[in-house]
Amino acid sequence: MGAIVAKGVEMAFPSGRQSYQVLKGIDLEICRGDIQLLMGPSGSGKTTLLSILAGLLTPSAGKVYLLGDEITGMSRAKLARFRLHNIGFIFQGFNLFPALTASENIEIVLNVKGIRYRVARQQARVLLEQVGLGDKANQKPGDLSGGQKQRVAIARALAGNPQLIMADEPTAALDSHSGHTVIELLRQLAKEGGCTVLMVTHDPRIVDVADRVAYLEDGVLKKE
Ligand SMILES: Nc1ncnc2c1ncn2[C@@H]1O[C@H](COP(=O)(O)OP(=O)(O)OP(=O)(O)O)[C@@H](O)[C@H]1O
Ligand SMILES: [Mg+2]
Repeated sequence: MGAIVAKGVEMAFPSGRQSYQVLKGIDLEICRGDIQLLMGPSGSGKTTLLSILAGLLTPSAGKVYLLGDEITGMSRAKLARFRLHNIGFIFQGFNLFPALTASENIEIVLNVKGIRYRVARQQARVLLEQVGLGDKANQKPGDLSGGQKQRVAIARALAGNPQLIMADEPTAALDSHSGHTVIELLRQLAKEGGCTVLMVTHDPRIVDVADRVAYLEDGVLKKE
């Protein structure tokens, strides 16, 4: 079974007296180590599908399996634990803690995963260097540019080496140089680390490194 599997996933949101069906039966299987892109027009349901596949939103129907476990049947507590240990999130609007430095924003995630003190600080430093922010470890988010904040969020998503990375437009706010750094990092993670990456993007540079691209339109997936 693939690392990320969706079977007959449907999602309807209430809209006045009726309901609005955003996803109409999604079947998807993503192999371990693949970079899978999700594309489609604005409002087509990309963020909704990503949220369901990441266990942040419960579908109206259908099943989702991550790393061989069905997450759609899990209790809230079990699902929260599963997410913590297995998924790195790079979502739009996933904010950094403003009172903490870039390094502390990453350390806190490592602490929750059971990695403490000096080891967490060292790992945070390595992650910040990987995204090109080795010299910003002690700055707070308010003193960083939009692209730099996004890179801290990416470093934080990678903390603790999750097997799955779920990203919603990770390069949208980046200039071409830092965009490239991020893409290269995600490619390395997938190809050398065996990490599975699912990403919503419009970025043509990412299409070049993707293994597969799926298009969401009118509630269904059209695979390339
Ligand atoms: N919590 C919600 N309640 C009601 N409707 C919602 C909710 N979340 C999303 N929708 C609706 O579902 C549709 C899909 O939204 P979604 O955010 O998944 O689109 P998207 O493909 O990510 O768009 P974009 O490219 O603009 O980010 C939209 O019509 C949106 O208004
Ligand atoms: Mg979206």
